[in-house]
Order: sequence, then C-alpha cells, then structure tokens
Amino acid sequence: MTELDELARRRGFYFPSSETYGGVAGFYTYGPAGAALKANVEDAWRERFSTEEGHVEIDAPTVMPEPVFEASGHLDGFDDMLVRCPECAESHRADHLVEDNTDIEEAESFSPEEIAEVIAENGLTCPNCGTELAGEPVEDFNLMFETNIGPGSDRPGYLRPETAQGIFVEFPRLKEYARGQLPFGVTQIGRAYRNEISPRNAVVRTREFTQAELELFVSPGDPGPETSEFAGIEAPLYAASEQGPNGEPELRDIADAVSDGTIGSAYIGYYLAAAREWYERVGLDMNRFRFRQHQAGERAHYAADCWDAEADVSMPGEDPEWIELAGFADRGNYDLSKHAEGGADDFTVFEAYDEPKVVETATVDPDMSYLGPEFGGDAGAVAEALAELAESDRSAFEGEEVEVDGEVDGETHAVPVEKVNFAVEEVEENGEHVTPNVIEPSFGVDRAVYAALVHSYEADEIDGEERDVLRLPAEVAPTTVGVFPLMDKDGMGETARDLAAELRRAGLDAEYDDSGAIGRRYRRQDEVGTPFCVTVDYESLETDTVTLRERDSTAQVRLPTEELVGTLAELKAGRTDFEALRERHDEV
Ligand code: GLY
Repeated sequence: MTELDELARRRGFYFPSSETYGGVAGFYTYGPAGAALKANVEDAWRERFSTEEGHVEIDAPTVMPEPVFEASGHLDGFDDMLVRCPECAESHRADHLVEDNTDIEEAESFSPEEIAEVIAENGLTCPNCGTELAGEPVEDFNLMFETNIGPGSDRPGYLRPETAQGIFVEFPRLKEYARGQLPFGVTQIGRAYRNEISPRNAVVRTREFTQAELELFVSPGDPGPETSEFAGIEAPLYAASEQGPNGEPELRDIADAVSDGTIGSAYIGYYLAAAREWYERVGLDMNRFRFRQHQAGERAHYAADCWDAEADVSMPGEDPEWIELAGFADRGNYDLSKHAEGGADDFTVFEAYDEPKVVETATVDPDMSYLGPEFGGDAGAVAEALAELAESDRSAFEGEEVEVDGEVDGETHAVPVEKVNFAVEEVEENGEHVTPNVIEPSFGVDRAVYAALVHSYEADEIDGEERDVLRLPAEVAPTTVGVFPLMDKDGMGETARDLAAELRRAGLDAEYDDSGAIGRRYRRQDEVGTPFCVTVDYESLETDTVTLRERDSTAQVRLPTEELVGTLAELKAGRTDFEALRERHDEV
C-alpha cells in the first residue's frame, strides 16, 4: 500500500468494499471525503463538457438486454487476453504480464497466439507462485457481467460496459430533441462494469467504475471546428508512429498537430485541448500528463482513431507509471449503423441540401398479367428483383430481355424488356438521410480523482513538523473551509459554529472542528486538501473579524467576518486569489 492509499483509507477517500466479509477485488467504496471529491470532479466535468458546450445530459439504465450488445459488437469483441497458472490457478491478464516483464509497451495490440509465443520465448512465470507459463493457452475472455432479466434464464442482460450504449440506443428519440440538427451532443455520467481479469492499483482498474462520456453526433462530411478555436494550447503528444523503445512524446500546439494531420480530426483536437485545460483545473500536474495515440491493433472494435489522455501516477522515487485517464475516439458511424441493423427504429437524420438537386431515378412497372402466369408464385419476387436491378444496373435493360440472375429461388429468370416498363425519370431531391458519425470523449471519473490525489499529494515540513498535504484546487476539494474556535469557551465555540452554519447555507462545504491544538486541526485539514481555514479568536469577539489561513502558503490574514462568505465564494470560483487578500488585509 502506498502512503497515499494509507491516507485515503485513514481519512475516508476510498477503501476496498465489503471488507467485513473478506472483500472482493475490484470494488471500492468512496468514503465521505472521496465521495465529495468525486462529486466535485463530476460537477466540474458537467459544467465544462455538457453545460458550456450546450449539450444535454441523459441518465440511462445500467442493465441492458442482450440484443444491444450483439449489435454493438461487445458480445463478440469485448475481450481481454487471459492466461491461467497451471499450478495455483490464478488468472492473469496476459498482455499486462508481457508489458510488465518485457520491453514490449503495447501488448494489447498482439493476438493471443503472439502473446503465447512471447510468454514462452521470455520464460514468463506466474507472478503469484513462480510457475512457468510457457505452453499455457492464452484465451479471449469477455469482460461483460451477465445477468438474467426477470425470472428464468430466457432473457439475458448485461451490465453496461460503457455508458455510451445507453446514448446510442436512444438516438432515434434524442435526434428529435435536437430537432434533427447536426451536430449535437449528448452526455452521461454513470456507472459502467467490466469483469476485469486482474483488477489493480486501488481505484484505477476496478470492476465497477464511473464514466463521464460525451457522444457528439456529426454530419459525415463535417470537417469540425476551425483550429483557431483551440490554438495556443500545448500538450505532449505521443503519436503512434513515434511509439517504441526510444520513443518520446513531443510538446506540440494541439492546433498545429491537427493542421499537419498528426491528429486526424479537428473535433478530436478540440476535445484534447479542452481536456488538457480541464485536467489542470481539477488538480493534475501538467508535467505528468500526455496524450497518446492508439496503435492500430490496440483500438477498440468500434474506433477509427483514438487518442488517450494519460497521467503518470507513480509515487515519489518510483519509475513512471502511465495510466489511461480518458479516450478520444472517432467512432465513425459504427454504432448507429449497427443499431439501425439490429433495432426497429430509424437511426438516420435528414439533412437538407443547400439547393435542391435534380437526380435521375430508374423505375420499373412490370406487367403482372404477364409475370403471374409465367412465374407463378415467384412473380412478386421477380418484380422486386427487377426494381432492385433498375437501381443498381440500368444497362441490364438495354437488350430484348432482362435477366434476374439467381435472385429468385437461386435461378435465373428472363423477362422480355417490353413487359417491364423500364423508365428513367428526373426528380428533385431536397436532402438525404445520413447516418451521423460519432466523436466520443470518454473520461474515467475514478481515474481523474485518483490522478488528482496522486499529483496533489506532498509530504512537507511546517515549523519543523512533518505534514501530509493534498494541494487540491478549491473547486474540487472535499471541504472548502475548516472553521475553528481558538478554544471552545467564552463564546468562541458558539460564534464558530454559527459561522460554519452560515457558510454551509451559502453552499460552501464547511467543517467545524474544536478538538485538539489549533496546529493539529490545521494538519488534519491539510491532509484532506481543505484549502482554507477560519479561526475565531478573542480578537474576533471584540472586532467582529476572523483569521483566514491558506493551506499552500500557510499565510493568514485577518478580515471582517461579514466579508467571509463572499471572499470564500470568490476564492473557490477562482475569481480572486490569496495574494490579492494579502494586499488588502492585515497579515497575522
Ligand atoms: N466508451 C468508451 C469506453 O468505454 O472505453
């Protein structure tokens, strides 16, 4: 357990679930501090990627029936590679075993047979008991949790492995709310489930987790935003072509990388830039952050291109450990086309042309009084086949006879062309039905929370005393302000309790604490990332003032009590900073 995991458990950020019954790997509970932090991160995501973009949010069920996942491809293709130890029977994710024990970086793009070869060639052993794994089969293991809907087993369902499917299956209704106008975006924050072979690293790889996903539906020819909309935002970009043993990400202006084709879609570039700023806003260290493009073999079955946001979450003194935080995928029209095939509704949007177009259409009007006696029960099918042929091959109607090849009962039927009434007509069309493409920024909320904790964690020394501190931004910190009486006597406790209540009524997370020495109370708040602490002392009672302390600098100012709510709201929203307060008020 790292120092951070220890702190997380002790101070109520996160801990393994159901430990009283021995627990089960891959399930974590967020305690009071963690649940508050996570809710604040979700609010910050909602504000940036839903509200600010003008998108709408939905809330779909987490259990979905089997046909959804037959159509989406998850039933067949949502697998990880599994190898079992013949001695201790422990299951391992085979690609991770290879990555952890060889120089290979992206083993996910290998086939199971290739992974089995690498395991044998490198003599890899079971991490649990040390038994050689050479010769053991490497199998595809489907990651979805299956369940039965209702009594009996004739209605299988699955816990959704991504929130996205809950948006795609409702597209026929959602397009109505968007009045059929592309582009439009739909967001969802919710639980998803994956039966991971080997969950690991606290809340990083769990079997139940929270996603924040945005599905942007765009017209097939839409080139995306102008690069000037997101120019000037730089990030380390690790393109697929640069990845390898000596590969390094390159610090680039994201807009330039779109212009030169490194990033294939302006929409993806736009979201990478937005994500770069958002992660900094919620507390990630941009020196430990990058975007990495997926290798072709690594991409999910639905993705045409994909970039991941990644963070190094190693603790001080350890080797870098890059984890995926979010994926930015161009899903093309894969999902909507599949649900159009499998579902009963219309997954297209009617797009009007700027000017009506005149198009030629070829039609037939077969003489059924001829086809009936000639083809008997096949006459209707022959007529249908003629109509299809007219659309696909007009030249078939140029001779004396037209042949409908193998379409009806596998036989060729010849029809005299004068019985077909073939004609080419000009018609005016005002638009066409298109299946939109999907651009998907998909964020793992738990991983954003975890990376923010790792990057904000520091052990430092104040006045010769060691302290653990979480330098979380005020916007996401579980508690905004600690409120202390110097001592709970002479009215100071009452005044501080009233003040905490007033702050809470104003929507600020305030925690009252009167136990122990004041220094200890500051340390307790530093440890959970509380950015500010207010103290009510004897002078407060005389002058109606309080002291306000900043976590990071530990500086304190004295300000009128009546200014406290407004000042803290401004600090939390980032509209002022503590430096400005130091200029305006007396330092303590
Ligand atoms: N929707 C993308 C993912 O779950 O990975």
